Amino acid sequence: MASRGKFSGRIGFIAAAAGSAVGLGNIWRFPYETGENGGAAFLLIYLICMVLIGFPVMVGEISIGRNTQLNAFGAYKKIGGAKWGLLGYWGIISAIMFLSVYNVIAGWAFAYFIQMTNGVLINTDNFDAHFTSQISDVTDLFFYSLGFMVLTAVIVSRGVKKGIESASRILMPALFIMLIGLILYSFTLDNAMEGIKFYLIPDLSKVTLSTIYNALGQAFFSLSLGMAALVTFGSYISKKENIVTSAALVTVTDTTVAFLAGLLIFPLVFSQGLSPSAGPGLVFVVLPGIFASLGVLGPIIGAVFFLLLCFAALTSTISLLEIPVSYLVDEKGYSRKKVVIFTATLVFIIGIPSMLSYGAVDYFTNFTFYEGKVKNVLDVVFDIFSDVGLPLGGFLMTIFIATKWKKANFNDELEEGNPGYNGSLIQKYLNFSLSYFAPIFLGLMFVVTVLKKFFEIDIF
Ligand code: TRP
Repeated sequence: MASRGKFSGRIGFIAAAAGSAVGLGNIWRFPYETGENGGAAFLLIYLICMVLIGFPVMVGEISIGRNTQLNAFGAYKKIGGAKWGLLGYWGIISAIMFLSVYNVIAGWAFAYFIQMTNGVLINTDNFDAHFTSQISDVTDLFFYSLGFMVLTAVIVSRGVKKGIESASRILMPALFIMLIGLILYSFTLDNAMEGIKFYLIPDLSKVTLSTIYNALGQAFFSLSLGMAALVTFGSYISKKENIVTSAALVTVTDTTVAFLAGLLIFPLVFSQGLSPSAGPGLVFVVLPGIFASLGVLGPIIGAVFFLLLCFAALTSTISLLEIPVSYLVDEKGYSRKKVVIFTATLVFIIGIPSMLSYGAVDYFTNFTFYEGKVKNVLDVVFDIFSDVGLPLGGFLMTIFIATKWKKANFNDELEEGNPGYNGSLIQKYLNFSLSYFAPIFLGLMFVVTVLKKFFEIDIF
């Protein structure tokens, strides 16, 4: 078997896992979800979901990976037999599909970074129209998405430690510094306070069941849960590491970056008197307009912001690519380089219809109709592999621990590298969450999503 590679230690794992978690989900998706779902109230529910469900599920996934020291498929099969191996396959397929669309959006961010540096974006007078034409421009889409995929492949081909870990160790601190710098600047703008109030003072009357539902979905997306990503990552850590502390640090880092992204974006949005509920276009339509209005500093701030978005996306695309790569290296014994070239090409090709689904090709743009609206290919892939797939994957993982692996074995795995864990309060808490909270909420979420999306039965 080809050598699997290993993280250099605790910091290496945390940098890489936090790099996986921190991504477009934090900087692009979290602010618009928060903006659309009532601001501070959403933030509060989101934090609760992180603690009650996100963190325990993360510990579950990592411990399965570390126990078996195998890729997603190998890990589930080793403990649970061939049938459970299918859950690992599902994770690998989800990662491939998810990456194929994620890379398209990363390509948009890349294009916006370049256009901020060369002046194209700042000199636009209609940012909405620019965004619409940008995401339907075939040449640009091709160039930027391909560029992003090539960069991802180069890093992953260097291996777990030299590629993924070192990239994350540089990109993650850089991301933090840029984010803090931008926030300090945004606080100096007129009306910034309005944004901060919207973001930090909760109006609990705005909490509905759909707030909870959206917050849990966001938590799963953001922590990279439900597609065995952390099973794969967990397989590269040693028995000496403390899984609970590591998972806690990853959760805290991820939540902090999302929190900071909100702290940057809402003051900006309110300083211009704009609406925070612009949806997925928030970062691509509203922000460039704001940067353009900031005078000479505008292009610099804008470029830093989109570079930040690219860094965040890159640490996620490399982790996503690692999931199928790890499977092919482990199970088939092919060399890492060959596997990376093959997988990256495959993912890119699979992503082409999604790439062309914002106006470039009519068939992909008006692909189908459900949930009361026209859906393009990218929507369909995200609906299946993110909105429906992630809670399903998380739910089945909890069932796997309870029925197949058994709680005692799970606890013993966590005891390794963390003596005294058995019998501790945190052990009771994690067991409780993984036996009750997580399966109940995730199972419900799966059912509600399927009914809502594909049968037009809206429970809330
Ligand atoms: N967490 C990533 C983000 O916030 C997206 C993501 C979901 C992911 N699942 C993943 C990244 C698996 C890497 C691996 O953008």
